[in-house]
Amino acid sequence: MSKPVLVSGIQPTGRLHIGNYLGALKNFVALQNSGKYDCYFFIADYHSLTENFDPQQKQEQILNLAADYLAAGLDPKKSKIFVQSAVPESVELAKILETVTPFGELQRMTQFKDKASTQKENINVGLFTYPVLMAADILLYDAKFVPVGEDQLQHLELARTLARKFNTRFGETFPEPQAVMTKTARVMSLDDPSKKMSKSRPGGCLFIDDAPEIIESKVRTAVTDSGNEIKYDPKNKPGISNMLGMMSAVSGKSIEELADGFSGMNYGELKHSLSDYLIEYFAPFRKKKLALIKKPVSLKSALRAGASKAKKSAEKKMAEVKKKIGL
Ligand code: AMP
Ligand code: TRP
Repeated sequence: MSKPVLVSGIQPTGRLHIGNYLGALKNFVALQNSGKYDCYFFIADYHSLTENFDPQQKQEQILNLAADYLAAGLDPKKSKIFVQSAVPESVELAKILETVTPFGELQRMTQFKDKASTQKENINVGLFTYPVLMAADILLYDAKFVPVGEDQLQHLELARTLARKFNTRFGETFPEPQAVMTKTARVMSLDDPSKKMSKSRPGGCLFIDDAPEIIESKVRTAVTDSGNEIKYDPKNKPGISNMLGMMSAVSGKSIEELADGFSGMNYGELKHSLSDYLIEYFAPFRKKKLALIKKPVSLKSALRAGASKAKKSAEKKMAEVKKKIGL
């Protein structure tokens, strides 16, 4: 029996923050190491073109994300790790899936609405059809599982809808993918815990390759809540709850256990402890990343090898899809 396919990707748009890590990348590594899945992890460079970008920096951003993947523990021997545009079949499939995508479904997408409001001067059609390409990335490999943060659930729901619509119209072709989420599927911003941490607002981000002194100062100055009691209550204490969530994810201790341990202590003590945990947790990652980034040639060759494996499945699937629709 072949293993179920698991697919995910991250856009090469800047440094990874702890939301990307705890919501997605950490889970990629655990799922890969479980040995239960046939894993595909890619660098979503086509998707990243929908935001404002500098072509001079794109290759560097791609290699930087490849170094993040490997430093975090993704292993080219265990997973197919590649750049999305090295397997352009996803774009071909997206073109076909567009024809079963209701316009209204795309108009409802909250990420489109958010991005359209933050990049008013660049509301491009690629931003609008972004979720269809994401569905193609998933369906192209017959994925059953897709590890993502909470903000991607609406897009995943569209992928399920498109699989169903295609299957109904042209015969059983795609399995319906399902999301795999972590406990920390939504990490909030350090400077405003009512908003999610996002690369588009770097001021509130803790980057996973931040130097120890930067981590310390960002955590020390993070916005907390009124009152002085330490307890887990995301509604009334979003700042403190966000910190307890991050601490739980990097310490392996439960939120309840941590909240009990900190009862009676003040916010300063919680912050101090959180920055210690974070610095210790990310130290090996930083070291590995620094070493990997110095070897662009070997990063590129790992990505090429991953792409050639992914391409085999992609070509096979596209032949099946084209046959079904009469092309
Ligand atoms: P992106 O940088 O938009 O390509 O996102 C990469 C992954 O990180 C996706 O699976 C997102 O769902 C996840 N992610 C992004 N921001 C957060 C956040 N603040 N909390 C949890 N997960 C997140
Ligand atoms: N849209 C995803 C994000 O912003 C990245 C992505 C593109 C993706 N294609 C995908 C994630 C396919 C999972 C599966 O995070």
